[in-house]
Amino acid sequence: MIPINAPQIGEEEITAVIEVLRSGVLTHSLGEGPMVKKFEDAFAKFVEAKYAFAVNNGTAALHMAILAVGIEPGDEVIIPSFTFVATAEAVVLAGGRPVFVDIDPATYNISPCEIEKAITPKTKAIVAVDLYGTPADLKHIREIAEKYGLKVIEDAAQAHGAVYRGKPVGYYADVTCWSFYASKNMTTGEGGMVTTNDPDIAEKLKLIRSHGEKEKYLSVMLGHNYRMSELQAAIGYVQLTKLPSFLFKRRVNAEKLTERLHEVNQLQLPLEAEDCRNSWYLYTIRVKNANRDKRDLLLHNLKLRGIGAEVYYATPIHWMPYYRRFGEFHLPETERASAQVLSLPVHPGVNLEQVNYIADTLIEILNQLKL
Ligand SMILES: Cc1ncc(COP(=O)(O)O)c(C=O)c1O
Repeated sequence: MIPINAPQIGEEEITAVIEVLRSGVLTHSLGEGPMVKKFEDAFAKFVEAKYAFAVNNGTAALHMAILAVGIEPGDEVIIPSFTFVATAEAVVLAGGRPVFVDIDPATYNISPCEIEKAITPKTKAIVAVDLYGTPADLKHIREIAEKYGLKVIEDAAQAHGAVYRGKPVGYYADVTCWSFYASKNMTTGEGGMVTTNDPDIAEKLKLIRSHGEKEKYLSVMLGHNYRMSELQAAIGYVQLTKLPSFLFKRRVNAEKLTERLHEVNQLQLPLEAEDCRNSWYLYTIRVKNANRDKRDLLLHNLKLRGIGAEVYYATPIHWMPYYRRFGEFHLPETERASAQVLSLPVHPGVNLEQVNYIADTLIEILNQLKL
């Protein structure tokens, strides 16, 4: 099976972990150990942010960001429903109400026009997700946020290395969240990062990460234990040095798939805007005339032929049992996309022969199923 994603770990990461183990410094009481700091500095430089805080996963990063921009019980936060559940979870954990809005069907990212329609006096923030590694339309989102005095959080969990209008994604948000989960473009096993240019937000992030402690055993606000260990940071630092080569391989694979599939009329291929660069976390196609059952049949057949295609995300969050309590949302583009998309493997472990096999097999099955 060609998996949809696979961690790319080499001897360098193994050596780095052994060195940390031998050093005896496995973590730091405020989450500020030497490897964590080294990783944070390098990551901040990579995404052109003033401040970076390493944490133990991307969900923690989102929760911290939501708290640091001041979301309190009763506040509304506008988010897409077509994303991983952690985006909504972070809002609810802070006592906020997620207000789901529809996506742009061309990019699958939150639609700026829909955001504006959903704003009420209770709205405090917008979370934009760079889904599949395609940058969200931050310029327009920023303009809306400024018009209504809202904070912008970017969920860039899938977008390490993506570029929006000449700048790394996250650059135009008040605070940006990253994940280093095992499937991501770079990994620490589990891990995350929060970046910002705002000194006040940075101060809060630092406190929230470790029990609200200004110094050891002196809590000045409610916090959590969201610290990253030195072992994870050592892996992350090495992975970051390899990220450009990972991104290059993903791009080569994605461009090959586009070259092979662009004349297949039944498919909508992923969009890469002229002044943007996708991180190609996932190569997501839409089977334009398929319903959910037909898309699932295609998926099943791809798997039978050894292609680990997956659907991200078959159940939009506003349809999930727990999240129905936040209201009834009518999101036709989200619902349509959830029935028609599927993602193909383009990770750095996939070679060109496999990419051609994926394209050939996909075309063959589409024709067999008369899709
Ligand atoms: C869009 C999105 N947001 C948030 C997360 C949460 O990250 P983590 O799994 O590291 O908690 C993920 C990754 O799983 C994600 O894909």
